[in-house]
Amino acid sequence: MATQAGANRGEGAVYEVHQIAKSYNGRYALAPTSIEISPGEKIAIVGPSGSGKTTLLHILSGVTKPDSGDVKLNGSSLSDLGPGRKLSKLVGVIHQQYDLVPQLSVLHNVLAGRLGQWSTLRSLVSLVWPQERDAAIQALERVGIAEKSGERTSHLSGGEQQRVAIARLLLQDPEIIVADEPVSSLDPARADDLMGMLAGIADDSGKTLIAGMHSMELARTYFDRIIGLRNGESQFDLPIDWLTEVMLEELYELEGLQDETIDRQ
Ligand SMILES: Nc1ncnc2c1ncn2[C@@H]1O[C@H](COP(=O)(O)OP(=O)(O)OP(=O)(O)O)[C@@H](O)[C@H]1O
Ligand SMILES: [Mg+2]
Repeated sequence: MATQAGANRGEGAVYEVHQIAKSYNGRYALAPTSIEISPGEKIAIVGPSGSGKTTLLHILSGVTKPDSGDVKLNGSSLSDLGPGRKLSKLVGVIHQQYDLVPQLSVLHNVLAGRLGQWSTLRSLVSLVWPQERDAAIQALERVGIAEKSGERTSHLSGGEQQRVAIARLLLQDPEIIVADEPVSSLDPARADDLMGMLAGIADDSGKTLIAGMHSMELARTYFDRIIGLRNGESQFDLPIDWLTEVMLEELYELEGLQDETIDRQ
């Protein structure tokens, strides 16, 4: 069952994903999958561990190349776009294990959001004399940790580091945000707060948000479309209000689930 959801399909789609697939060791991490995504949609990707969420998100953000199939981003083939400045203007990524540089200050990590737009020289100069410091401080204010700007990032808690990753995204200002379990390491109240912040950033400027999620409650609160993956296959693709408990039970049912491998990522 793979029902298409969302309005305004076809013309003006940010993503046209045609039959992408990825295998590891002869087994599908993602079976051939087609998706179309309209600007401004907020899509939660859900499914059991090992079901292919990260694989799909990595393909959408250009981190991983699919074995077959095609991803078009604003009408251009993803393989023609990246990696580079053009891609970083379009897609911002928050990884499952957020990839901040722990030895650098919070401010420098936030400024890394601009790296895709700066020349190499400017990037190097910024290591010594931070460029666009005001913009970075503003972003840190928005996520509520401006007072931490001078701290070494490794000294921050997991939740604070998630905020730094969001501040970096604010500076990058991409059209599309791809986030892989952006709040999974946080307690429920902070997870809700940060997810609301991320959804708000998307809403404010019409950005498209695509996120791997484990919390169904947060998915229902902040997203308008949901895609369920199981054993690398799309089980459903629906407006979130159409989702039923039976669909969820079938998605997460242990029986029939391929063995989890220990070493993921
Ligand atoms: N680089 C890799 N090498 C080998 N196998 C991989 C690799 N990346 C992913 N896989 C396998 O592909 C499958 C899908 O993995 P993926 O990380 O996409 O799952 P996931 O849904 O994100 O899981 P989780 O919820 O635990 O993050 C798993 O069986 C995983 O072991
Ligand atoms: Mg994952």
